[in-house]
Amino acid sequence: MGRFEPRRLLITGGAGFIGSNLTRRMLAAGGEAAGLEKVVVLDALTYAGHLANLDGVTSDPRLHWVHADICDRAAVERVLADHAIDAIFHLAAESHVDRSIEAADVFVRTNVTGTFTLIDVARRAWADRFDATRFVHVSTDEVYGALGETGAFTEQTPYAPNSPYAASKAASDLLARSYFQTYGLPVVITNCCNNYGPYQLPEKLIPLMIANAVEGKPLPVYGQGKQIREWLHVDDHCAALWSAMTRGTPGESYNFGSGDEMSNLRLVELLADLVDDELARARGTTRALIKFVVDRKGHDFRYAIDSSKARRALAWERSKVLDVKLAETVRWYLANTAWRQAVASEEHARFQAVHYPGLR
Ligand code: NAD
Ligand code: DAU
Repeated sequence: MGRFEPRRLLITGGAGFIGSNLTRRMLAAGGEAAGLEKVVVLDALTYAGHLANLDGVTSDPRLHWVHADICDRAAVERVLADHAIDAIFHLAAESHVDRSIEAADVFVRTNVTGTFTLIDVARRAWADRFDATRFVHVSTDEVYGALGETGAFTEQTPYAPNSPYAASKAASDLLARSYFQTYGLPVVITNCCNNYGPYQLPEKLIPLMIANAVEGKPLPVYGQGKQIREWLHVDDHCAALWSAMTRGTPGESYNFGSGDEMSNLRLVELLADLVDDELARARGTTRALIKFVVDRKGHDFRYAIDSSKARRALAWERSKVLDVKLAETVRWYLANTAWRQAVASEEHARFQAVHYPGLR
């Protein structure tokens, strides 16, 4: 199959962490997506979505901003028709595992019903031209469940999601798969490991630890910090998504990982040392803020990804190494105080207070 060249792209969730990095990449001068006529960002601006994440690209004439909910069928229909969309990167989602444990309703609404609404609208809008379209459904390695000390998830690993978040993403993956199997809608599914980099809301591990460290607040490590995650820089994920869009075979899934695995405690210690160095604190000052707190319910022990299919079929390779990019990421959060303030909504503060009682 030849390369697919999108012209008019819709990015749902484009005001979130990965979506905003992807939008920036799509609009980059001289970048791989230079042939795009327009990039439409559709986002509901929940507590996790912020226009501040799109600073620097909002004046690009190819960018069109739509404030809408993916569950709103009429709004989604209008966007596809008005902009003659021929390709979708679907990233809009509720994405934080701990919030799904607090209350899963909105995860089912957005991740399941919202994905259904979007994909069903795409199926109807593109009915007479599937060959000229693509729907890239962006998902997670958490759909595969948890691993022990060894092994890695392949695209053949059976789904066994453990958190309500993972279950809602698994449900959305299955819906996406069914739209290929039933209707032939050209759907490509991607399953990626943990991302890090700029513009990630400080409720996820890495930016939360940096934000707390700066303010001298405790660094809450769940359980004993022994769980292991695999970390991919968001730029590498965005490159992977472009390769899935342009080279992926409809009906296929692709796993993306980095090989950079680390226990949570080791990662938090590294972050603490980097903050010490950047802020000229004595080594050990920030590590002293580490506080072991009650473990996450149903906490998955380890995720690890086998990316060999993506390397072989999409010619994708990760290019950023955690050793180098973690220090750069710390510097980005330290330098962007105004951004950290802009994304600190009331809802963010509410969740922090409820989720980490007695830590302030
Ligand atoms: P995020 O929480 O930072 O961003 C999600 C965005 O979706 C926000 O801008 C939010 O406003 C928007 N949104 C939420 N509900 C919406 C709705 N009903 N309608 C329209 N917009 C809505 O998430 P992220 O970390 O950028 O993740 C993006 C996608 O990538 C998600 O689908 C997630 O499951 C997947 N993913 C994330 C990671 C990771 O490590 N962050 C790894 C693998 C896959
Ligand atoms: O694996 C991909 C997934 O990675 C994505 O699908 C999710 O959207 C994304 O949020 C992320 O999920 P995790 O649950 O792995 O990420 P989080 O940053 O919430 O936590 C990373 C690890 O750190 C996890 O083992 C829990 C632990 N942790 C997290 C927080 C917020 C702590 O020990 N303390 C904390 O305060």
